[in-house]
Amino acid sequence: MSIAPPPKTVLLTGGLGYIGSHTALALHEAGWRVVLLDNLANASRAVLGRLEAITGAPFPFYEADVRDRAAVEAVLKGEGVQAVVHFAGAKAVGESSADPLSYFDNNVGGAVALLQAMAAANVRQFVFSSSATVYGTPKYLPYDEAHPTAAINPYGRTKLHIEEILQDLAASDDRWRIAALRYFNPVGAHDSGLIGDDPNGIPNNLMPYVMRVAAGQLEVLSVFGTDYDTKDGTGVRDYIHVVDLAEGHVAALEALQPGRALGESPFEVVNLGSGVGHSVLELVKAFERASNRPVPWKAAPRRAGDLPEYFAEPSKAKALLKWEAKRSLEAMCASSWAFQSRQAEG
Ligand code: WQD
Repeated sequence: MSIAPPPKTVLLTGGLGYIGSHTALALHEAGWRVVLLDNLANASRAVLGRLEAITGAPFPFYEADVRDRAAVEAVLKGEGVQAVVHFAGAKAVGESSADPLSYFDNNVGGAVALLQAMAAANVRQFVFSSSATVYGTPKYLPYDEAHPTAAINPYGRTKLHIEEILQDLAASDDRWRIAALRYFNPVGAHDSGLIGDDPNGIPNNLMPYVMRVAAGQLEVLSVFGTDYDTKDGTGVRDYIHVVDLAEGHVAALEALQPGRALGESPFEVVNLGSGVGHSVLELVKAFERASNRPVPWKAAPRRAGDLPEYFAEPSKAKALLKWEAKRSLEAMCASSWAFQSRQAEG
């Protein structure tokens, strides 16, 4: 009788956050042993109990900051970690312009400290949460991975700097296996309705704001610009269901294993997007259908730093990772509404 090998252990930094928690579920379901680390700056410890309620399994959790090299190295060694998915970091574009030093310290400093701890613990499989923001103003659309990069705000610059650090690291030591995943606009929630996008305070992003307007917690949605040169004058984005995104991380981690698609390449960047652009008003209408609630909106001035339109060319992920986004805008809205309703029940 063949004895199954022990499950591989992966550490998720920022593992109690919106995308981290969904990825923890997807990796668990794919047979990985998942260890979580989070400094709780933008996540609630309550998410840990929800993950365990959904899976029936405990998740080892460490409250720590990735900039604490000694603490991270101890977790890597103590838990027998073989790979790391790095979500931890600050992600508000406007805030990054107001306080760039904290973004470079947290995001870039945190990534360097984490990678140093990994090297010290002889852990060199790394999936990085990057962003389509690194493409800057489109030279052409859809963005493919060959599109020039040019960050247009400190947040995007931190993502770009970390990608450049990863490229130099991989070039210096070919034992590294690194995938930088460039996200488009993650929205939606796990089917359980127990976890989802639940930012503190007034949401910056469209979907969590729409959720709260539909729930009556916020009065009206301000549509930032209705005079763009787009299908209906409002901003167009490539929305991707967070569960699709989570499954994309599983596919990337599997691809980094010896003998698999990325098993021989020290560094790759891959778009994780649907390849379809939807406008603000298309999302609002889809949400009204999904929730059967009105989402009142009003035209407002354009938001500084916003691009009119961008969306992904997703074929590299399909070819390399055997992954593509499957879930519709309607499913993104329905799952967001189910999560919002569950939250309102308390
Ligand atoms: C989407 C559209 C707004 C709020 C940001 C980050 C990006 C990534 C995803 C981390 C735009 C419009 C929004 C509102 C509105 N995050 N909007 N009223 O700006 O595309 O991307 O989040 O990786 O890096 O930049 O997302 O949801 O803020 O905006 O009209 O109250 O909705 O103008 O057209 P964005 P968003």
